Amino acid sequence: MVTDEAARARELVSAARRLVVFTGAGVSAESGVPTFRGADGLWKSHRVEELATPEAFARDPRTVLEWYGWRRGLVSECSPNPAHLAIARFALDGRRRVTIVTQNVDGLHRRAAMTAAAELATQPGPAEPLELHGALHRDRCSGCGRRSEAVVGGSAVVRELPRCPACDALLRPDVVWFGEMLDASVLKRAFESAHEADVCLVVGTSALVYPAASIPQITARAGGIVMEINVEATPLSDVADHTVIGAAGAVLPIMLEGS
Ligand code: OAD
Repeated sequence: MVTDEAARARELVSAARRLVVFTGAGVSAESGVPTFRGADGLWKSHRVEELATPEAFARDPRTVLEWYGWRRGLVSECSPNPAHLAIARFALDGRRRVTIVTQNVDGLHRRAAMTAAAELATQPGPAEPLELHGALHRDRCSGCGRRSEAVVGGSAVVRELPRCPACDALLRPDVVWFGEMLDASVLKRAFESAHEADVCLVVGTSALVYPAASIPQITARAGGIVMEINVEATPLSDVADHTVIGAAGAVLPIMLEGS
């Protein structure tokens, strides 16, 4: 059933020429990827300080790498859901400029871009996301910064600490940890697209973690429309021009397909 709010949102999306789709863990919830702050969220059963900080990695790299090995294994079993696919198809339909900016590291937007591009016999580029917090499927050398595809699968038990073939420093997941800076060039592109956007669609985020959470505020300050899709109200709901309460996998296909 298309709610009035979703129908109104659809009209605004159809009229927009430049959009940012800004996503958080909620867009992947229906794929089976746990969120961070929900009832069964990751931060409810794990302590950030012990797993997602440079200090934790320096203190106990094996535990940190085993936790990320577990997350990698979990995500490798998950698939893009209708929300990811609707967003990717919307970005590839060529009728407007869409920039996908995600806080997620699960790679599901990237996989949805490949699926939608194959369906449309086109290149996935316009649907490939700006990944503000990095990507689980990549490793990065803690010494020279060299990036490589992570070896995923098998046991999450780390027997031998992985080392860089070029400089022998420890390899770590290519994700942003608390206390670390985001990639400046990625963040600059995300801020620019938010500033130029007619509409910023905010999907499945608690809007608590900066600088990512400033994306919709940049659109609002520049005179654009902020539209939130979430299963509950968030601190952003007071700022958003429209809030559609509903699951991303149900709302986005209605809001985006054919609009
Ligand atoms: P959170 O777990 O903080 O918030 C998830 C949001 O998604 C909540 O607002 C939920 O209500 C909403 N949600 C859950 N299921 C949904 C569904 N099916 N459809 C729509 N919305 C749904 O995750 P994020 O906001 O992404 O940082 O967290 C932001 C950052 O905090 C993450 O990127 C991570 C974390 O610490 C880093 O890794 C640096």
